[in-house]
Amino acid sequence: MRIAIIGYGTVGSSFHRLLEERSHWLKSLYGIVPQVVSVCDSTGCAFNDDGIPYEEAIMKKSKGSVENGNGVSPLKIIGEGMLDVLVECTPSNFSDGEPGRTYIESALKSGIHVITTNKAPLALYMPYLLDQARINGARLFYSGTVGGGTPFLSFAEDTLKGNAVKSFRGILNGTTNFILTRMLEEGISMESALSEAKRLGIAEANPYLDLSGLDAAAKLVIMMNHVLKKRVTLKDVEVSGLLNGVPTPSSGRVIKLIARTSPRPSVSLEEISATDPLNVGFTYNAVEFDVEELGSVYLIGKGAGGMETAASIIRDLVRLRLSLS
Ligand code: HSE
Repeated sequence: MRIAIIGYGTVGSSFHRLLEERSHWLKSLYGIVPQVVSVCDSTGCAFNDDGIPYEEAIMKKSKGSVENGNGVSPLKIIGEGMLDVLVECTPSNFSDGEPGRTYIESALKSGIHVITTNKAPLALYMPYLLDQARINGARLFYSGTVGGGTPFLSFAEDTLKGNAVKSFRGILNGTTNFILTRMLEEGISMESALSEAKRLGIAEANPYLDLSGLDAAAKLVIMMNHVLKKRVTLKDVEVSGLLNGVPTPSSGRVIKLIARTSPRPSVSLEEISATDPLNVGFTYNAVEFDVEELGSVYLIGKGAGGMETAASIIRDLVRLRLSLS
């Protein structure tokens, strides 16, 4: 399985390391023999048909560029039959989804399977990209876009298979949940709490995306397409976040940034009971699925982190392999 990793920040490089650590296990359990033949980021692009070891890529990156003198670019690698799987981990750009959108679309149109952790291209164009995958016989996986390592998407798709998920609501952004917890339980300011979230490495490079509710809205869109099969994009979600201030909750209640599918897709601050299972603290994410046969089913876990998201790419790789056999 020839793999290119495009986007070699915390997530892309953590995935590369984890893939090497798990290679024996992936081969013996699933027959996957992965070979990272290309690593690209904003500093350059490397290609080697015999494989690029993690140590080599990370050493080159620490010296300024991952590039290895082969004169390749992401689009050349995608367009010239050098790959089986594109692992796309470029940063989210919510104005037009680029450059991730072009990489994902080009790969799918070339019949290359894609695993992405990039929320923006999906939030803006998910129905179109899923159509492209289907039309071109390629698979598109994106577990790491929602919930970091916590498998919200596959929980709904696999574990609840055969049951009817009617709607869901949840906390989909760890940064704002951390900030709300610190502000409301410990009285610290939004600015100080945001600085802490940045130090923890969970805030977006542009924290406006967290604070405005856009990051949670993007995850809501991805979940609605995946779980409810609704062809929605970011423009269908009513979004507000923390930027207009955080109200003081009444006694026995807490304020949370809740993404919900009904009565209409929205992300906003809501007052919920302190005993509501969605009252999770700090960087945790939590989702309540309203299942026709079961009532409420909850899933709670860490929603961000390089290693957690890298673990989700490994799961997608296994799902890809199983879907091809
Ligand atoms: N900034 C995001 C969050 C990272 O806080 O949830 C994970 O998508």
